[in-house]
Amino acid sequence: MLDLNRQYQPLHGELLAALEHVLETQQFILGEQVATFEHAAAEQLGVKHAVGCSSGTDALWLALAASEIGPGSAVITTPFSFFATVSAILRVGARPLLADIDPVTFNLNPASVEAALDGPDGSTVKAVLPVHLYGQCVDWDSFARLARDRDLKLIEDAAQAWGAEWNATKAGSLGDIAAFSFYPTKNLSAAGDAGMVSTNSPELAGRTRMLRQHGMRRRYYHDEVGWNARLDGFQGAILQVKLKYIAAWTEARRIAAERYHTLFGNAGITQKGPYPTHGIVLPQHISGSVHVWHQYVIRTRRRDELRDFLAARKIGSEIYYPVPLHLQDALKGLGYGPGSFPEAERAAREVLALPIFPELREDEQQTVVNAIAEFLS
Ligand SMILES: Cc1ncc(COP(=O)(O)O)c(C=O)c1O
Repeated sequence: MLDLNRQYQPLHGELLAALEHVLETQQFILGEQVATFEHAAAEQLGVKHAVGCSSGTDALWLALAASEIGPGSAVITTPFSFFATVSAILRVGARPLLADIDPVTFNLNPASVEAALDGPDGSTVKAVLPVHLYGQCVDWDSFARLARDRDLKLIEDAAQAWGAEWNATKAGSLGDIAAFSFYPTKNLSAAGDAGMVSTNSPELAGRTRMLRQHGMRRRYYHDEVGWNARLDGFQGAILQVKLKYIAAWTEARRIAAERYHTLFGNAGITQKGPYPTHGIVLPQHISGSVHVWHQYVIRTRRRDELRDFLAARKIGSEIYYPVPLHLQDALKGLGYGPGSFPEAERAAREVLALPIFPELREDEQQTVVNAIAEFLS
């Protein structure tokens, strides 16, 4: 599914030198390497402030807490995401309200969000937390309009979307504040857990910095109850190196995605979406946006059988996500059940992510396509 060694091998000298520099300076937590990374990251995103932190999960928590979202507030988000999107809302003491997804992009549907705002709990909603799933931005124009009309904060979960754009604006600089993950499988990845918050607001950036260090602005004087959510020097150093290559890696992912489109088209097994009947539905790239292809996700009816068929041929695939969040045992208390979000439930049954990474070769993609064609025949 993903061979991280192919990225590591050509970089190993540069990465080791960066790590050695951290050892020489002995700045293991935050420090010079993290600050330099934060500046370079902010510049690349076109955003005023970037604050490194310990994971994408903590970045979401920090973004919510910095925005003063807590008990008594509700936040609308998607049921079709990684668990942290919803658990971070619960961790700040706020209430997650869910809304269904768009069946074409799998992203949060603005019309469903609007319906939730008009529902009985709508008045307590302080923010919307859309996820740029699989590396494609949500329909930002609609969310920006909603936020303006309803006086809501917009908090981006950009964990999967480093470099993605909407109308020439990068994910991470669209909303009030955003959260990134640098988990090792992400497009821009650390060598362990790491994350980042980005914002154009000096006030939100200051609050994020304060909260990631136990609520301290001045050493051992605690203004608020924060958390230990700092980024370490080794991760800052590694991320700095990788930041120089990410644009080229993103371009390689785009080429790989185009190649899949062509190869599947040539195999004659694709069908129009959004719902599959006999063939496979290819992922749709919304025009005007820059998709960074964190995942290449097809839809198909006999998904689990296809996955087993591929596994038997040593072809990796993954399901993001097999159980929508409202049906997770840990989130039963939210009060939703089967049928609450039909699009998310259907997507959970039909999606399959195929191997995609910058170093993936054409012959490997052809093998994947041939195997799927064989299965469907
Ligand atoms: C959409 C989304 N949100 C949040 C996270 C959490 O990030 P992390 O694993 O770095 O805590 C992830 C990554 O796993 C993710 O994909």
